[in-house]
Amino acid sequence: MPPGTVDCRITVEICWIVHTCSREAVAGLVIYKTASPIIMAESSKAGPGAGWRILWAIGTALLVQVLVLAAATMPVLMGWLALANATTDRPLARAVAFSLAVAPSYAVFALLLMGASAASTRLLGWKSPPDAEMPLDRVGWPLLGWVRYMVAIHVVRVFAGLLLKGSPLWTAYLRLAGARLGRRVYVNSLAVSDYNLLEFGDGVVIGADVHIAGHTVERGTVKTARVRLGRNVLIGIGSVIDIGVEAGDGCHIAALSFVPKYMKLEAGATYAGTPVRRVDTGAPRSRPPA
Ligand SMILES: CC(C)(COP(=O)(O)OP(=O)(O)OC[C@H]1O[C@@H](n2cnc3c(N)ncnc32)[C@H](O)[C@@H]1OP(=O)(O)O)[C@@H](O)C(=O)NCCC(=O)NCCS
Repeated sequence: MPPGTVDCRITVEICWIVHTCSREAVAGLVIYKTASPIIMAESSKAGPGAGWRILWAIGTALLVQVLVLAAATMPVLMGWLALANATTDRPLARAVAFSLAVAPSYAVFALLLMGASAASTRLLGWKSPPDAEMPLDRVGWPLLGWVRYMVAIHVVRVFAGLLLKGSPLWTAYLRLAGARLGRRVYVNSLAVSDYNLLEFGDGVVIGADVHIAGHTVERGTVKTARVRLGRNVLIGIGSVIDIGVEAGDGCHIAALSFVPKYMKLEAGATYAGTPVRRVDTGAPRSRPPA
């Protein structure tokens, strides 16, 4: 393999981890896919030991997620064993009991998973570093530590997010996992990550399918910054809020808007569009009044 090819392959592998961890793929699949022999190869950009660093990060991420999932599953399984014992020699009663137990069991598992995952990331200090620039091809410890936090977030998203997003329980989980959220905050989107870099005031509402993250990837580098939303800020359905954005109290962002990185939005104002512009300036309306 000619020199340089390995660099490229490592970069592609890490890009793949980063994107899939923060989006759709299941963490276990990520870990399986990235455990290919190519990551053991050395790269001049990644520096010596890159392969071992990646293996360590994958191994510890896998171990912690297996333990977290086991902690969330065990009480449910114990309940099912108790049900099985209580219905010995009564097949119909057993079938009824197990059927009734399925939905509550899943809810209990989801709640336990949120608690166990948040506790594990806090205990281990896994979080997104603020104001960092982490080149993908260096495969440094900060990048790999951040990937582990994204994996932990993603596992909860996959197993509990669809059931509970938008509810006060989801808000409580986000707080436990590192977000600084005020009272009556509702987050109805799973495209939210880097929780420890998010600061929302009381009464913030995040609409469905909104993308808010404390990270972005530009020109091969993961960049991070805090996102701060004041009290009673509304982010309309399907909007994208880039890193470093700050919105004053009562600011409204219309549906399907894009707020570029580090933009400061004024309190009480309404913004819309891609990129956003202020739309509440009192200028004459282009449409007839209702
Ligand atoms: C932000 C919002 C609340 C503003 O509502 P409003 O104060 O009544 O303002 P209007 O609807 O009158 O719109 C004001 C201007 O912005 C424009 N505008 C509104 N939404 C827009 C959008 N998504 N993209 C581009 N322009 C938009 C309007 O066309 C109007 O322009 P005009 O003055 O030239 O006619 C509303 O536009 C919106 O996006 N609601 C979605 C709420 C949502 O997604 N909630 C999620 C939780 S369910």
